[in-house]
Amino acid sequence: MLRLRPDDNGIRRAVELLRSGRLVAFPTETVYGLGADASNPEAVRAIFAAKGRPADHPLIVHLPDVALLPEWVAQVPETARRLADAFWPGPMTLILERSERVSGVVTGGQDSVGVRVPNHPVARALLCAFEGAVAAPSANRFGHVSPTTADHVMDEFGDEVAAVVDGGACPVGLESTIVDLTDERPRLLRLGMIPEHSIVAVLGCKLDRPGDDQGPRASGRLATHYAPSVPLERVQAAQLRMRIDECVAAGEKIAVLAFSEPATPAGRVLWSALPSRPVHYARALYRELRAADAHAPDRILVEMPPDSSGWEAIHDRLRRAAGSL
Ligand code: TXA
Ligand code: MG
Repeated sequence: MLRLRPDDNGIRRAVELLRSGRLVAFPTETVYGLGADASNPEAVRAIFAAKGRPADHPLIVHLPDVALLPEWVAQVPETARRLADAFWPGPMTLILERSERVSGVVTGGQDSVGVRVPNHPVARALLCAFEGAVAAPSANRFGHVSPTTADHVMDEFGDEVAAVVDGGACPVGLESTIVDLTDERPRLLRLGMIPEHSIVAVLGCKLDRPGDDQGPRASGRLATHYAPSVPLERVQAAQLRMRIDECVAAGEKIAVLAFSEPATPAGRVLWSALPSRPVHYARALYRELRAADAHAPDRILVEMPPDSSGWEAIHDRLRRAAGSL
C-alpha cells in the first residue's frame, strides 16, 4: 500500500487510482474510509472482499457537495434539506431512498442509500478532484476497531488496498451519526458526536430509536462491533482498583483505559489515561484501544465514563466493543 501525502500530487495520484477502479483509503473528520468509485460496481465489490464484509451490509456514498445529492437519491425530503443545511459538511450520514443510478452493490441490495458530505479538508480535496461520489466504509476489517490514522489503515490491509492518503489523526474519532429518513418518522440508527438534541432542534420532532434487531442491515448496530481482538470489560470507577487487583492476582496481563493515572506502577498493567472531556475522549478512544490490543493483553479494562450528556456515542461504542448491548 502506497502512503500518499495530502498535497496536490498525492491527491492527483489518489484520483487516478480511484478512476482505474482501485481502493484508496482517506481521512475524514470521523475515521478513515476505504474508498472506491461509487459508480463502478467492480471497484465497490473489492471493498467487501478487502474488509471481509458481508455483501448485504450497505456502504456510505461520500459526496463533494450537497449539489450532487439529487443524482444519488430518488428525492430529497424537506427533513433531509434541513439536516444537510445544518450539519453538512460534517459527521452525519442520511439514509434516503436511492436513485436509479446507485448500484445494488453499494446498497447491499436495499432500496435506500447512505449519503454524507464529509468535512475533512483532505476528504473534500479528494472528492472535489475526483468530481464524483466515493463509496467508503470505515477502513478496517469487518467488526474491528475503526482506524483514526494512516498507520492504523496500513496495519489492517496489505496490497488489496492501493494507497492511503495520510491526513494525520481524525479530529472526531468516532463514526458519523446516522439518521434514516426513509420513513415518516426520522430514525436514529447510529449515535455519533452530533448530539441528539441538536438534531431534534433542527427537525422539530423526536427521533425513533429502532432496536438493534430491527430494520435494515447496519453492521455498526451489531452487538459485537468496533471490537478489539481480546475481551474488553467495562468497569465502574469505584470497582476499577479491585478488578485490576483480581486480574493481576489471577496472573493476567491487562491493559487499562482510565481517567486517572495509575496509583502504583504495576508491571503487568499497561495503563492509558484518557481525557475527561467527551470530545477529546472520542478523538483518543480508538487509538488507545488499538494500542492496548497491540500489546496482546489477556483483557482490556475500561473505566466507565460518566452518564452525563455528551458521552452517549462513547457509551454505545464501548458497549459494542465489549460485545454487549
Ligand atoms: O463516519 C463514518 O460514517 C465513516 C466514514 C468513513 O464516513 N464510515 C463508516 O462506514 O462508518 P461503515 O460502513 O463502517 O458504517 C456505516 C454504517 C453501517 O453500519 C451500514 O450498515 C450503515 O451505515 N448503512 C449504510 N447504508 C445504509 C442504508 N442504506 N440503510 C441502513 N444502514 C446503512
Ligand atoms: Mg465500520
